[in-house]
Amino acid sequence: MDNYKLLVDGGIPLKGETYVSGGKNTSVAIIPATLLCDGPCVLENIPDIEDVRVLVGILRYLGAEVDFDKTAKRLCVDPTHVTNKPIPGYMTGHLRASYYLWGALLGRFGECDVGYPGGCTIGSRPYDQHIKGFEALGASVIDRGDGLFMQGDLAGAPFYFQRITVGGTINIMLAAARARGTTILHNAAREPHIVDLANFLNSMGAVVKGAGTDTIRIRGVSSLHSSDYAIIPDQIETGTLMIAAAATRGDVVIRGCIPTHMEALSAKLLEMGISVQEQDDAIHVRPPVRFHRPVDIRTQEYPGFPTDLQQPMSAMLCLAGGRSVITETIFENRFLHLREMLKMGAHVDLDEANRFVAVIQGVSELHGATVTATDLRAGAALVIAGLIAKGTTEIREPGFIERGYEHIEEKLRSLGANIRREGL
Ligand code: EPZ
Repeated sequence: MDNYKLLVDGGIPLKGETYVSGGKNTSVAIIPATLLCDGPCVLENIPDIEDVRVLVGILRYLGAEVDFDKTAKRLCVDPTHVTNKPIPGYMTGHLRASYYLWGALLGRFGECDVGYPGGCTIGSRPYDQHIKGFEALGASVIDRGDGLFMQGDLAGAPFYFQRITVGGTINIMLAAARARGTTILHNAAREPHIVDLANFLNSMGAVVKGAGTDTIRIRGVSSLHSSDYAIIPDQIETGTLMIAAAATRGDVVIRGCIPTHMEALSAKLLEMGISVQEQDDAIHVRPPVRFHRPVDIRTQEYPGFPTDLQQPMSAMLCLAGGRSVITETIFENRFLHLREMLKMGAHVDLDEANRFVAVIQGVSELHGATVTATDLRAGAALVIAGLIAKGTTEIREPGFIERGYEHIEEKLRSLGANIRREGL
């Protein structure tokens, strides 16, 4: 239970310039990857978000020397004196990405004893493909009932993912980086943060080729050396800010982003009649000439429409001029925010028989209400709904948002939004 709520006043078009922070999902993969290094690493552009703070705490618990300069966004990690002790579930349960400690510790020590991961309740979120991948490299995996114990003298091997999985691809890359021999991952995920992780590993002397395609080759090396590496900007924060600008019919320049990562979203915004102009490292979103046309969204693995942007997008579609159909193909429980938007006057059909499809009929107006965030991107969606509703929206459990968006309230206020915290 958070001890504060967010209050958001609606009806103010966002205007001005803002910036994108370093990527959450790339940070939570690259920070555990530093454990594979035989010396200190410096990571630039690391966002000050809850998931990063939790991982920093776990690395310190393991004996790494970690200095996080939040103003400079610089994280220095010296894993030289790390001991491979069991990591309890009360530490790993705070976030999904704690499961990258499996691949990092297996890769470094050939053994790990790690509590279960946590993460947003957007589906069952199994990790069978991770386990099968580790076993393909020669690890034995035991479920202790409160976490997983793994052990093995890892040897490179071919592995075919039965389902495209971002986490699975990242985890096996981590384990394979220092394994004997070559690992070939087939049907691998292609997200930008997988390419970023491969670039970081290669900057330490790893030999990873093909990241960004569905086949990744990793030739294991015996040791990895220090590196100073700047991570990529957050694709999902970029998209969330683009949607907030478009939904409020604002005029916003988002700096420090990578426009090519945003193509699936930009195409949908253009289809809605919204002007999206790409610059080298910025995107300019301008108001539409008329109402937002409705669009159908089908989430897919990268480079398709990101599942993490489905929820923020659905807030904007509540006021589109017609019927929009959202098909969520990645997670089976990612429409909880729509139930909250019904309280604001949204017209949504959630087909109980088919939990992967939601139909949104645009209405003329949403009104402020008291709503509750159920996960990170649902929280972001409710903020956007509050920005376009008439009156004030009160958002309970806003702490979810803090997990993945750095200084998002300040960024929105700098664009003219009236958003503030209030104690409960
Ligand atoms: C990562 O989750 C992200 N989290 C998610 O972002 C993101 O939504 C997701 O990738 C898809 O892009 C982090 O990077 C920390 P998956 P992950 O493994 O790795 C099934 C956010 O809001 N699956 O690609 O858990 C799984 O159930 C978060 O930032 C298996 O069946 O996603 C899901 O249906 C939310 N077996 C699908 O695959 C497995 O072994 C995709 O999951 C692994 C996954």
